[in-house]
Amino acid sequence: MLAASLLLSLITVISGQNTTAGLALNEPPDGQLYLGAWVDTSVTSGDSPLAFNVRLGRNTSWFQASQNIPQDPYDDVTGTGGIINATKVFETNTDAGVYVTVYPNDGLDAVNVQDLASLGVQLQSYITAGHAVFLRFAPEMNGNWDIWGTQPTLFKAVWKTMYTTVKSSCPSCAIVWSPNAASGYPYGITSDTIANATDRAALDTNGDGTYDNTDDAYSPYYPGDDYVDWTGVSYYYKGVYPNAYNIIQQPGYMATAMTGWLQDNGDSGGTQYTEFYQTYCTRKPCMLSESGAAWHVNQTQIPTYDGFVSPDQEQLEQGWWADGITNETFLSMFPRLKMLMLFEWEKVETDNDIPTLRDFRLTNNSDVLTGFTQALEEVAQRYIWASSLPIPTSGAGSPDQVPMPQQTVHRATPYRASTPTSLSLFSSDGIPTLILGWTTAVAVLASGAALGASLILRM
Ligand SMILES: *[C@@H]1O[C@H](CO)[C@@H](O)[C@H](O)[C@H]1NC(C)=O
Ligand SMILES: *[C@@H]1O[C@H](CO)[C@@H](O)[C@H](O)[C@H]1NC(C)=O
Ligand SMILES: *[C@@H]1O[C@H](CO)[C@@H](O)[C@H](O)[C@H]1NC(C)=O
Ligand SMILES: *[C@@H]1O[C@H](CO)[C@@H](O)[C@H](O)[C@H]1NC(C)=O
Ligand SMILES: *[C@@H]1O[C@H](CO)[C@@H](O)[C@H](O)[C@H]1NC(C)=O
Ligand SMILES: *[C@@H]1O[C@H](CO)[C@@H](O)[C@H](O)[C@H]1NC(C)=O
Ligand SMILES: *[C@@H]1O[C@H](CO)[C@@H](O)[C@H](O)[C@H]1NC(C)=O
Repeated sequence: MLAASLLLSLITVISGQNTTAGLALNEPPDGQLYLGAWVDTSVTSGDSPLAFNVRLGRNTSWFQASQNIPQDPYDDVTGTGGIINATKVFETNTDAGVYVTVYPNDGLDAVNVQDLASLGVQLQSYITAGHAVFLRFAPEMNGNWDIWGTQPTLFKAVWKTMYTTVKSSCPSCAIVWSPNAASGYPYGITSDTIANATDRAALDTNGDGTYDNTDDAYSPYYPGDDYVDWTGVSYYYKGVYPNAYNIIQQPGYMATAMTGWLQDNGDSGGTQYTEFYQTYCTRKPCMLSESGAAWHVNQTQIPTYDGFVSPDQEQLEQGWWADGITNETFLSMFPRLKMLMLFEWEKVETDNDIPTLRDFRLTNNSDVLTGFTQALEEVAQRYIWASSLPIPTSGAGSPDQVPMPQQTVHRATPYRASTPTSLSLFSSDGIPTLILGWTTAVAVLASGAALGASLILRM
């Protein structure tokens, strides 16, 4: 009983920690905000939070990474799968927060309480080690590109279970509800693609029988203030239709994420999509949960009209940062926007059936990096930077005290079973299973030799 009540008061202290000044969990004081980065830590990229900080010349306050629920096996060849590797944040030797995005990649139905409970324990271990935590669960649930999308009824039910379960072991985890920004809504979603009748009706928020920009892109998915610590949106600039060539954005584009008002390119008209800021950033602090402008590396369909000049990568990215990240006007207009998270990746994306390689990074190309860091200098005092916190070699926060990806799928070189001594493959008294396994491995090795080093065997 004593132990239980001690635990209870401890939980109260922890959860009350950052609400004393009227601020939400992890909320910076007014007039300040966080800059975070989601860097590509896959083995093919080789990037890391530490390398990002070195390039930026500053200690970033948050680093994002993602994992699936239920977890998939970790592959130490590609560095993908499993739970996130928080050591990549700790090795910055700062107190940077760990921002974990969790994808229910097998569908909302496959999320169970046991997995949510172990997620809470995992996240609490980072807090114990001195790193604050954001959890962003099932983001962009209002889009139709992920398996958990467009199911508002089930989404809200699973969300509430998720929130309650994670909070019971990680009361200081700040949980972020984060749809896709409304511009472009309903993103091609039509009622005949929504299987569940309750959902179909819920998404037609104005009840006019069709889905369009006058339907609320967010409210069907909002689980309620009691189940949300922060709100956020994903927000990108990818050019103009068909999103395959480089063109500088118009100033004010960043504000669209908050106001929903999207100015048309070139004329004075525009489209009003669902407003975000007044509804979702007033009662809770909010963030751009992932954001960036796409540089189309292999651009196609460049317009031929008079006066079109292709920008270079720095000009295009400057259009992005100058409109938001380093724009005092923008930051002052939306003081409840308290975090900007950079999507620091290069990846292939396909829009309108055209795959293009897109570089969203502000710290890779040296001209972009120089321009960005100079502009950031002007507003640096607005942002909160991480403080020094050397990575401990033992105890809380040391790599062996924090859950790590389990190496269930691995090996850079193909697996070879140990060769049994006095082996006879032609033995007449029955081939043991072990040896059968070995012969299979030999066969795979033989074909693997033709494929070269890219062969990865799964056990
Ligand atoms: C609470 O706020 C303080 C001061 O802003 C900060 O140092 C600390 O990391 C925060 N703790 C949590 C759990 O968010
Ligand atoms: C986690 O990251 C650290 C630091 O980069 C690295 O040394 C370690 O091998 C990684 N662990 C796993 C399981 O990938
Ligand atoms: C719609 O989905 C909810 C949540 O999964 C479920 O309870 C309900 O039975 C479904 N309704 C229909 C008509 O399928
Ligand atoms: C800064 O933001 C404001 C408000 O959105 C916008 O009007 C202005 O054009 C932006 N400045 C730049 C340099 O993009
Ligand atoms: C652009 O490059 C990517 C990666 O190399 C490739 O997958 C894609 O097909 C290319 N797209 C075009 C239109 O050339
Ligand atoms: C830039 O990106 C390329 C390709 O992803 C990578 O090989 C290179 O090391 C990066 N350079 C810097 C300075 O980050
Ligand atoms: C960033 O953090 C490291 C490790 O704590 C420290 O050595 C370095 O001085 C910091 N850099 C800045 C610009 O604060």
